Amino acid sequence: MEYKNILLEKNDGIAVVTINRPDKLNALNSETMKELQNLFLQLKDDDETGVIIITGSGEKAFVAGADIAELNKLDAISGKDFAESGQAVFSLIENLEKPVIAAVNGFALGGGCELALACHIRIASENAKFGQPEVNLGIIPGYGGTQRLTRLIGSGRAAEYILTGNMIDAAEALRIGLVNRIYPQAELINRSMELGKQLLSKGAYAVRQAIRAIKSVDELSLKEGLNFEASLFALCCGTEDFKEGTSAFLEKRKPNFKHK
Ligand code: COA
Repeated sequence: MEYKNILLEKNDGIAVVTINRPDKLNALNSETMKELQNLFLQLKDDDETGVIIITGSGEKAFVAGADIAELNKLDAISGKDFAESGQAVFSLIENLEKPVIAAVNGFALGGGCELALACHIRIASENAKFGQPEVNLGIIPGYGGTQRLTRLIGSGRAAEYILTGNMIDAAEALRIGLVNRIYPQAELINRSMELGKQLLSKGAYAVRQAIRAIKSVDELSLKEGLNFEASLFALCCGTEDFKEGTSAFLEKRKPNFKHK
């Protein structure tokens, strides 16, 4: 499929997805959301892709939010559909059983912050700015921000940012755990690729089960979660990668994972 608003570059198991509407600060219009959905459905089943990096085109923005020109036309009926269909795209990303890294290279506002929140790992450039400014438009976050931001940074902090719409600079984002690392902008993509390569060097089967286990926290009680973890641990124990990883350690050599 041809993508109008997204660039895709595949390199040794890593797919770099760039939201490409720089003149609109990479705002997510419905066409871009549809393209993101199609692309992630494709990457999900793509055996050549083990890690995905999402970033924004240009030096100013990751994604400056949902497209406000489109938001402006919503009413109480179409608004529900808008939020639900956007949530479905971000849930698809979150539930992908391959690591998805947000390389946040500038403004990550509204839907942009929510897109980063749906990724498994967030790293950012020093000029990145996060925020959920929807109250300034008379709405609330609708692509998962109230849920994922609150789970990630806690309800006290999330309430402040969602109720004020204030931006969070990169240093503050790092301090509150909204991002894992910050780098000079010129280094961001290379650093993301390094992280991607590190993830690719692990057994993909174990990585997949780890993502499933971590994501289950949002849905399960501690007791159920421990039970789920034990089942996934057991599945890993039945793999060739487990035999290889433990044998390689004992034989003092690097593992050669076959991802099964
Ligand atoms: N939707 C649609 N267009 C957007 C947009 C969005 N979310 N964010 C930026 N743009 C467009 C602007 O309208 C402008 O387009 P134009 O040149 O055709 O007028 C272009 O992108 C550049 O943005 P501009 O506002 O001129 O840049 P700036 O450097 O002055 O300000 C921001 C940058 C990010 C602070 C500002 O663009 C902004 O507040 N954007 C909206 C953020 C937001 O509320 N997002 C949540 C939506 S739910």
